[in-house]
Amino acid sequence: MIKRNSILLLILLLNLVFYVNVNTATTQNYILRKDDFDRSGIPKNILVGSYIGGRSHVKPILDVVAILIERGYNVTLLTAGRYEPSSEYPGLNQITLGLSEVNGNNMKNFKNNVEFDYKGLPQILEPSTNDYKKTYEKYKKTAKEYNIDLFICDVLANEACIDAANNLKKPVVGWTSFLQFMDPVPYKDDPVYGCNTSLENESFFERFRCALIQPLQVASKLGPFAHQLNDIRKQMNIEPSGKIPKVSLSLVDTFFGFELPQPLAPNVQEVGPVLPEEYPPITPELSNFINAHERVLYIAFGTRFFTCTENNNKILQSLVEAINKKIVDGVVWPLGQTSRDNFYPTLNLTDGTQVQTLSILNNKHPHIHITNFAPQFAVLNHTNTKLFFSHGGAGSAHESLYTGTPMLVLPLGGDQMGNAQKLKTAGVALTLSVYNLNVNDILNKMSKLLEDEKIKKNLKRMEVLTKINSKRKYRAADLIEYILHSSGLEEYINDDYLKEWAPAASRMGFIKANNLDVYGALLGIVLTLIGGIVFKLFKSISNPSSIRIKSKKA
Ligand SMILES: *[C@@H]1O[C@H](CO)[C@@H](O)[C@H](O)[C@H]1NC(C)=O
Ligand SMILES: *[C@@H]1O[C@H](CO)[C@@H](O)[C@H](O)[C@H]1NC(C)=O
Ligand SMILES: *[C@@H]1O[C@H](CO)[C@@H](O)[C@H](O)[C@H]1NC(C)=O
Ligand SMILES: *[C@@H]1O[C@H](CO)[C@@H](O)[C@H](O)[C@H]1NC(C)=O
Ligand SMILES: *[C@@H]1O[C@H](CO)[C@@H](O)[C@H](O)[C@H]1NC(C)=O
Repeated sequence: MIKRNSILLLILLLNLVFYVNVNTATTQNYILRKDDFDRSGIPKNILVGSYIGGRSHVKPILDVVAILIERGYNVTLLTAGRYEPSSEYPGLNQITLGLSEVNGNNMKNFKNNVEFDYKGLPQILEPSTNDYKKTYEKYKKTAKEYNIDLFICDVLANEACIDAANNLKKPVVGWTSFLQFMDPVPYKDDPVYGCNTSLENESFFERFRCALIQPLQVASKLGPFAHQLNDIRKQMNIEPSGKIPKVSLSLVDTFFGFELPQPLAPNVQEVGPVLPEEYPPITPELSNFINAHERVLYIAFGTRFFTCTENNNKILQSLVEAINKKIVDGVVWPLGQTSRDNFYPTLNLTDGTQVQTLSILNNKHPHIHITNFAPQFAVLNHTNTKLFFSHGGAGSAHESLYTGTPMLVLPLGGDQMGNAQKLKTAGVALTLSVYNLNVNDILNKMSKLLEDEKIKKNLKRMEVLTKINSKRKYRAADLIEYILHSSGLEEYINDDYLKEWAPAASRMGFIKANNLDVYGALLGIVLTLIGGIVFKLFKSISNPSSIRIKSKKA
């Protein structure tokens, strides 16, 4: 028996050797595997819609769409105002929603020392609700005019885009960098809703507050807009399919490592960080400045939110003192004209000296370079740029991680508070708050970010992760193509459309999907049993003679 087995084994081994030999022998005749598929007959016209517009909402989508344009698709961008850099994308057709940029962008006027959280959201939701009819018609008209086959909708305040697509029975890809919008899980939350990004180590009461009380507060603030929107939809005879507008696929410009881990269904995919293939080079003037300094701090707060004059002054003071204390030796700060008016005339330094703000803003300080514009990625990638003082916008965070630059984050609003927490959790950033900005605290954190070995290690790790994941924009383009390929699109009316990546839970309902009915039945059985036993016990105690009778019998 043993012999036969070993003979079989020998034959098997010989076969294997022979097989391997044959394989290596024929290597030169191998044919290259082509993984391309037949694109003939795939519908070609894509519409990208963003109500808010602006760089942070439009640019990452365009970097994905650029791949699709290269593959032969026709793409039309529809957004508030004009997105000027769209000229960088040859072949992209741009139309304006006919709204002033201010309409979609009016958090621009949010100048305060409070964070822009859900309480500020009505500032966006109100104009978007008022503009709904107009934007809906515009999306629909454009879609018909350009024979649009698929919509890509930025999901913030952009229901008109999703509704227009649903109404025309066209597939919709929802786009955001904010995972909490697309796939909330019970153990994660976000400061924009008044809770921490992770609830892992929060007390019972904090979880109670975040699970039950905060959502009610958010709903009471934002609910009226949802009602108003539904009324308008009714007036216009627009039926959102189901209660929530239907999105075929959600693409999220983020990645685990930055994002706290959670499971995702196939129809919600992380594709970030999306970064452009090319970036503008450093200007000669800036290059001279940065080359002449060895430890440069780059500071930029985006264009959407501002902080108050008091805070601006503390920030500027900490920059001057960071140079005086040799924590850094140079500072680059792109600062728009309106922001320059947002300072007090003098800085009172901790050593008692006074500095005129205007002289710094006019570039009289030898080591502080104020500029109208800085090519951020190129500055961050410069070897002399050692630290990024940032508002923590998703795009800035991605660029900083890609270039391995530690971050001091002062979040001002939207997703920035959450990003700040996530970056801190990842061990690559320290955070500040607009509510208690303090010059000494800022200086201490700058020193720590520049010196801490653990932070340096984490930066290396995150750099690799960011670089690996920055290739996923091709996957985003693939998935969008797949939607166009998968159906012949007329079948979109059919419920089976894209069933292959929608988990059954969405169709089963909450109770069945979580087997709550089964557990409920089990609970019923257990309670009945316990009830029976307790009843028996109770009866025998209140009537001891029954026990005596029983024991007698036994
Ligand atoms: C792309 O759009 C242009 C201009 O609207 C049109 O001439 C062209 O036929 C379109 N191409 C396809 C493949 O639909
Ligand atoms: C969030 O976490 C921090 C510590 O990381 C804690 O100090 C704070 O109380 C938590 N809760 C909120 C609502 O920020
Ligand atoms: C919560 O605490 C555990 C145990 O100390 C730790 O491993 C984990 O990283 C903490 N989670 C967060 C989000 O801080
Ligand atoms: C600095 O001190 C002067 C008085 O010496 C005062 O007028 C000014 O308001 C102070 N500036 C700030 C920003 O506190
Ligand atoms: C960043 O700069 C280094 C040189 O310091 C260069 O080798 C590298 O290619 C740059 N990174 C990118 C993404 O261009």
